[in-house]
Amino acid sequence: MQYLRLDSADTMVVFSCEQDAPPSLLYWGKALAKNVSVDELAKLSLRQGMHGVADVSMPLSLAMEAGLGHPMVQGLSAHREGKDWGSLFRGAKVETLPHGAKIICRDEQTRLGLEYRVELDPESGVLRIASTLTNYGATPLDLNEMATACLELPQNMTDIIGFSGRWTQEFGRERIARTSGSYVRENRSGRTSHFSYPALLLATADTNENAGEVYGLHLAWSGNHRLRVDTLTDGRVIANLGALLFPGEIRLAPGESYASPEIVGAYSAQGFSALSRKFHQHVRTKLLRAEMRAKPRPVHYNTWEAVYFDHDTDRLKELATKAAALGVERFVLDDGWFGARRNDLAGLGDWVVSDDVYPLGLRPLVDHVTGLGMEMGIWFEPEMVNPDSDLYRAHPDWVLGAEAVDQVPFRTQYVLDISRPEVADYLFDRIDAVLRDHDIRYIKWDMNRDLSHPGGVDGAVRAVAQVHALYALLDRIRGAHPQVEIESCSSGGARADMGVLAHSDRVWTSDSNDALDRQNIQRGASFFLPPETMGCHVGPAHCHVTGRRISMAMRAATALTGHMGLELNLLTEREADLFQLKAAITLHKQHRSLLHDGDIYRLDTAPHHLAIGVVARDKSEALFSLSYMTGDQHVLPGRLQFAGLDPARRYHLALIWPEGWPAVKAPSLIEKLDLSGAGAVFNGAALMQAGMQLPHAQPETCLLFHLKAILG
Ligand code: DGJ
Repeated sequence: MQYLRLDSADTMVVFSCEQDAPPSLLYWGKALAKNVSVDELAKLSLRQGMHGVADVSMPLSLAMEAGLGHPMVQGLSAHREGKDWGSLFRGAKVETLPHGAKIICRDEQTRLGLEYRVELDPESGVLRIASTLTNYGATPLDLNEMATACLELPQNMTDIIGFSGRWTQEFGRERIARTSGSYVRENRSGRTSHFSYPALLLATADTNENAGEVYGLHLAWSGNHRLRVDTLTDGRVIANLGALLFPGEIRLAPGESYASPEIVGAYSAQGFSALSRKFHQHVRTKLLRAEMRAKPRPVHYNTWEAVYFDHDTDRLKELATKAAALGVERFVLDDGWFGARRNDLAGLGDWVVSDDVYPLGLRPLVDHVTGLGMEMGIWFEPEMVNPDSDLYRAHPDWVLGAEAVDQVPFRTQYVLDISRPEVADYLFDRIDAVLRDHDIRYIKWDMNRDLSHPGGVDGAVRAVAQVHALYALLDRIRGAHPQVEIESCSSGGARADMGVLAHSDRVWTSDSNDALDRQNIQRGASFFLPPETMGCHVGPAHCHVTGRRISMAMRAATALTGHMGLELNLLTEREADLFQLKAAITLHKQHRSLLHDGDIYRLDTAPHHLAIGVVARDKSEALFSLSYMTGDQHVLPGRLQFAGLDPARRYHLALIWPEGWPAVKAPSLIEKLDLSGAGAVFNGAALMQAGMQLPHAQPETCLLFHLKAILG
């Protein structure tokens, strides 16, 4: 029997790669002792046939191809003119790679090749799987559907956690009990989407943030996707993730291949937070650029909610001066600087500095910003065009669409077919010219509509090609301007997956700068994304999206724990608030190396609280944020049990935010122990096991606690 066994410190994965059966996942879970043989695992998995179903236990496979004849699940569906639909892949060859292997198999009958590249990172324990289908036949092959891989997971994973949302409410979590049949999430928006983040978790019913078993699967892909969990009538559970293909979208000519997006998976026996730490390690070490990781993430000022389309160089300079005085390190000029873009009805596609609003060009503003010691950043939305633009007037045939069907109206803009070389060249040349002409170190790369009719000029669907073209264009710009960081934004957080993060440096998490919404959104995003990749801005006192009024203390504390930025009109905010904001920026800078490199621990708390901590990898330091979202029905809140500390060390504990926090009815534990002043020392085990009695606080309060291990 042929197996592929991969081991990391805490995870083991075994694939069965037999000669007369298609490859399948035999085991994925907790690391087992070296002397556990894979033969034992295979023997323990032997199943029987049954009355009323097949006489043999139906085999499962990584592809769940049609030739298996499985009555419930199909992961690969293809044909040649209605024939050659019943592939069955066998005869796997295994070629070893540094931390994984290629599993290569073929089906001689349908003349198809299927190759899996699997890798288990020895440090993080993250499992990556990608697959490639090749047409070895003499005629074209139509591929209807191909999951990257179908993975059998343990049946005691009774809960599915999916990620849903909408504009300004991204990264919502939905935990449901798995039932028989299928759990399916499909996304046809042509971008990652607000409503179906391409990931899911399977957990036991009692798994929580810091205990219990959980599997996490993420599809590193910024386009259409299908996520499924099937519970078979025989009890087995299969999870599968893959790009969702439109009719006729993938037709493989003889010799051509289709490469699936990658599944990034992880297993944790210590709850959701430990799972997130693995994903964070993956993003940090495999996706982000080392040189950018080495550089502290500059605090941003973004102009959007301050001026929208009302650009005026003098006012922008004033804002920049004010921002620099607060400690801001990067000034990002948002939408409205180019062409006829005085509102969102015109100008997209015309990437030349507008003479109307910048008669002297952008240089005076850029020089002012850089003269203040800040970096300059700028907004683009390259994939889009307004019908009212010079670009559209010159090239109406460059947009995606469907013959004889009107475009779905969406922010008065269309999508360019950037998979066409002339379109990609045009965009590269325009962006390149702006970057060459100015000292610009940052691009906010936006994308604000769905690809509702993603047909190219030849009538064929280009949705998959569009995503590959996006990645290629991002790489081309990075190649030409390696010093420029790129943010992936899409109407907020509609393109914040690990696919795009391999080609960019951070994501815009949400268009809601409402701190209460943000607490939830950022918590959801933290399941997969480390804090430094999440753009987190302090918005105006009167939140533009929700209309809520939120204190500066709460707004600043919420933005401070991610990649901090500001997005408010500094010329109209109250001076007292700006004073507090400056203190928050200083605090962020003091702690950003911890926040942007440490291990995340979300805590389970009462529902009206949200608590999350970042602990230094050597456990020498930690910062915990505790938010009181709404009022408490009890006289006093419960205790906060810290997590991730070294139980054997003693920690100096201090309340570092809000500065001079006024107790609701003094003295609380904060005053009694002087936590806002000199602080107090506690044993790590006591802080975690016994926990700390929380003070009463008003709703919409966020307390930040700092812990520093003391010597001796
Ligand atoms: C959507 C983004 O999410 C916003 O932050 C802003 O950049 C606007 N687009 C500009 O049009």
